[in-house]
Amino acid sequence: MKSVLTSDYKILDNPRNVLRSLSFVTSNTHKFKEVNSYFTGARLSNMKFTINHLNQKYTELQADTISEVAHASASSLSTIMNHDFLIEDSGITVNRLNGFPGPYSSFVFQTVGWQGILDLLGDQEDRSAFFTSVFVLSLDKKLVAFEGEVQGSITIEAKGNFGFGFDPIFIPEGQTGFRTTLAEMETDEKNEISHRGKSLRKLFDFLIQK
Ligand code: IMP
Repeated sequence: MKSVLTSDYKILDNPRNVLRSLSFVTSNTHKFKEVNSYFTGARLSNMKFTINHLNQKYTELQADTISEVAHASASSLSTIMNHDFLIEDSGITVNRLNGFPGPYSSFVFQTVGWQGILDLLGDQEDRSAFFTSVFVLSLDKKLVAFEGEVQGSITIEAKGNFGFGFDPIFIPEGQTGFRTTLAEMETDEKNEISHRGKSLRKLFDFLIQK
């Protein structure tokens, strides 16, 4: 069995041994860590892509849904990029807050942080919420989207030091025992159940067919 080692990935049995490079454009190093961990851990047989980090900010257009934001941003970025790329937009939606912050998650986190969400929710009984992740891939100038979601609830207080953003106040559905919030999980554990893990799985299944 032939194998080729790149800096990050072991590519097995790639018939032509031709690797296409895909730039994940994000200024969020945590997101890249999750993507890198997923692709490193995934079964890479016949994978013809390497994913590298393009640490760059781009114009995030505002829209009513996370999916629309991701599409609009990718579409605008595709006019200036001359190679294949990937972007992701994500956010948390709190049901009792009528969908807030949703597409405004980034701004809300930068301004009031997770404490702002805990304050807004107060001691409300309905603490249900969900995270959404939408990857948009630009491959040969065509855009394809991959979406993932994880349902869960908002804690009473923050717990855990891993991850980023609202991770310390979000408990994924079905989580019991000591390690409950996303911020109490290592990257690969989070990827197994998270919104991003789910959208990444769809992206991976698509890329492996190429
Ligand atoms: P954007 O995708 O860069 O617009 O950022 C969305 C915002 O949602 C981030 O700044 C985080 O605050 C939050 N967010 C998105 N994904 C996650 C996650 O996996 N864990 C915690 N917070 C997240």
